[in-house]
Amino acid sequence: MKILAILYKGGDSATSEPRLLGTVENQLGIREWLESQGHEYVVTDSKEGPDSDFQKHIVDSEILITTPFHPGYLTADLVEKAKKLKLCVTAGVGSDHIDLNAAVKHSIQVLEVSGSNVVSVAEHVVMSILLLVRNFVPAHEMIERGDWMVSDIARNAFDLEGKIVGTIGAGRIGYRVLQRLLPFDCKELLYYDYAPLPEAAGKAVNARRVEDLKDFVSQCDVVTVNCPLHEGTMGLVNADLLKHFKKGAWLVNTARGAICDKDAVAAALASGHLNGYSGDVWNVQPAPKDHVLRTAKNVLGGGNGMVPHYSGTTLDAQARYASGTKSIIENYLSDKPQEAQNIIVGVGKFETKAYGQR
Ligand code: NAI
Repeated sequence: MKILAILYKGGDSATSEPRLLGTVENQLGIREWLESQGHEYVVTDSKEGPDSDFQKHIVDSEILITTPFHPGYLTADLVEKAKKLKLCVTAGVGSDHIDLNAAVKHSIQVLEVSGSNVVSVAEHVVMSILLLVRNFVPAHEMIERGDWMVSDIARNAFDLEGKIVGTIGAGRIGYRVLQRLLPFDCKELLYYDYAPLPEAAGKAVNARRVEDLKDFVSQCDVVTVNCPLHEGTMGLVNADLLKHFKKGAWLVNTARGAICDKDAVAAALASGHLNGYSGDVWNVQPAPKDHVLRTAKNVLGGGNGMVPHYSGTTLDAQARYASGTKSIIENYLSDKPQEAQNIIVGVGKFETKAYGQR
């Protein structure tokens, strides 16, 4: 059987740090195991265009492993060509780079390693909120430049205490963000999600659900996006919704780049309507050098906390999603049932409720 993995190139870092398991060099640590069973394991980072290894090998692979950090976009067209494909495994969380409707149509299962990096992301969200609210990035840049002008930083630095913070999506990550924010004594914690939290869980984090999205954002000082990308969330945070944000609000997106309209976000920063935007996800990855969100700034020349997509790929997370990927493949090869929480698309149907209301 042919198993194809699209991973990111790790370069010198990956050769000197074997715990970078999610790289082309370290191959999720499963090459020996797969080859000892007689399988062919193709690992590559070449994923774009008709001459890519991805498009070359997808036609006769039975299992496709991808990662959200360097997504191999399995479009409906490619699904049509992937005649032998039976299983897509996302090494990590978030399978929007797979055309899930096409997978349903062609009875290709899609599984991810649910929960493998949710703490990693939740920690990054809390960090991103703090660095925006406290105006950290311009402060550090000032120090590196050799300057020292406290008032230039303090004029746009605030405490998180007393602010209203809301999450779009209160699943594994969104809920963990709320848990981690509790000790900051925010004025209120809010969430927007079509799936209400179980009563006890909502009470435990003292979070109030707001059912209308415009009403929700209009109440928040900080909005954090923690829902999957699907038909219902593509471009959700657009120019129209941004008008309903409080003036001077901060927006953090570690979910998926395409949930926020990049140009609308940049314009809202430039006009002063948003005070900051932070996160690690981009509508195209790798982000082109001239991507507007690499350099977008608020009116004071700060408010940008963007980094490459790495919040969910800490070394701790890589150990978890590499071992989770192995168990999913092991179950598949030995005909054992998969863990229910990992199944996004089962044979011919959606098994999760998180990728939109259907
Ligand atoms: P989850 O499935 O536990 O929770 C997702 C929640 O979003 C669910 O409660 C669902 O009802 C809600 N939701 C779906 N559509 C919505 C909508 N239109 N409006 C409001 N809520 C909606 O997923 P989890 O583990 O919390 O991950 C969420 C997303 O975070 C992933 O799908 C992925 O895109 C992203 N992620 C990013 C990572 C990174 O490294 N930056 C790593 C891991 C996940």
